[in-house]
Amino acid sequence: MSATIIDGKAFAARLREKVAHHVARLSDGHGITPGLAVVLVGEDPASQVYVRNKGRQTKEAGMLSVEHRLAETATQAELLGLIGALNDDPAIHGILVQLPLPGHIDTDLVINAISPAKDVDGFHISNVGLLGTGQKSMVPCTPLGCLMMLRDHHGSLAGMEAVVVGRSNIVGKPMAQLLLGESCTVTIAHSRTRDLPATVRRADIVVAAVGRPRMIPGEWIRPGATVIDVGINRIAREDGKSRLVGDVDFDSAVEVAGAITPVPGGVGPMTIACLLANTVTACCRANGLPEPEGLTA
Ligand code: GUN
Repeated sequence: MSATIIDGKAFAARLREKVAHHVARLSDGHGITPGLAVVLVGEDPASQVYVRNKGRQTKEAGMLSVEHRLAETATQAELLGLIGALNDDPAIHGILVQLPLPGHIDTDLVINAISPAKDVDGFHISNVGLLGTGQKSMVPCTPLGCLMMLRDHHGSLAGMEAVVVGRSNIVGKPMAQLLLGESCTVTIAHSRTRDLPATVRRADIVVAAVGRPRMIPGEWIRPGATVIDVGINRIAREDGKSRLVGDVDFDSAVEVAGAITPVPGGVGPMTIACLLANTVTACCRANGLPEPEGLTA
């Protein structure tokens, strides 16, 4: 039996349409255009691609997109000055500082300098605390996208056994908090987990976010489980080109799982779509307007 494929690309396209609809309503009804500022320090090629895609999709949704590119040698003080100016700019509702930052810059200090209300990445310590205590917050984009797909597939997740593999601040930890908020029984597994195969085999829901190509084989998956693969790993092909694979071995897992996200075309496209959704949510909150349904957790 083969699993249902959860089509993240199509889901993300529908979410972007919903975002564009709300942007048009904000513009037509209130004369407000949601604005997203993205800050890139240095010239990391992968980061440049991400930033370009974010800018394009922001504009396609009808929002204001502002890009700030700083040299690799920019000082921490310069970056903090820019963030201060964006915090004070009423046309900007969301601020994203692309990570990783160069080594001479204190990432935590920079993230925590962003106004929590404009922190559309959900990385500010205030948003982390709000999420952890079940209060209204800005929710990190990748886990938010995973949650939307899980809710769409299952409806209620209450009582389900969820295993999150990976404990990063960007995905693993906030994903676990969101699943706990859905009344799942949540385990966070990681590289030091004693019996990872047995732990993963318990799960009705597996979220793989470790960044190791095809680390989780089908034989670790409980028959019928839902598998959300956050990994995006580039590996060499025999012909010298490269291809993207997830943290799950798709070919074996698809034979066992009940549903699975592919790589590419699964979680990946949801991340930017959720960034746009978070920017609309932040814009509505900033203007005291009701938040559109279905754009956040
Ligand atoms: N670099 C890789 N993923 C992310 C992300 O989700 N947000 C930011 N700001 N930088 C990243």
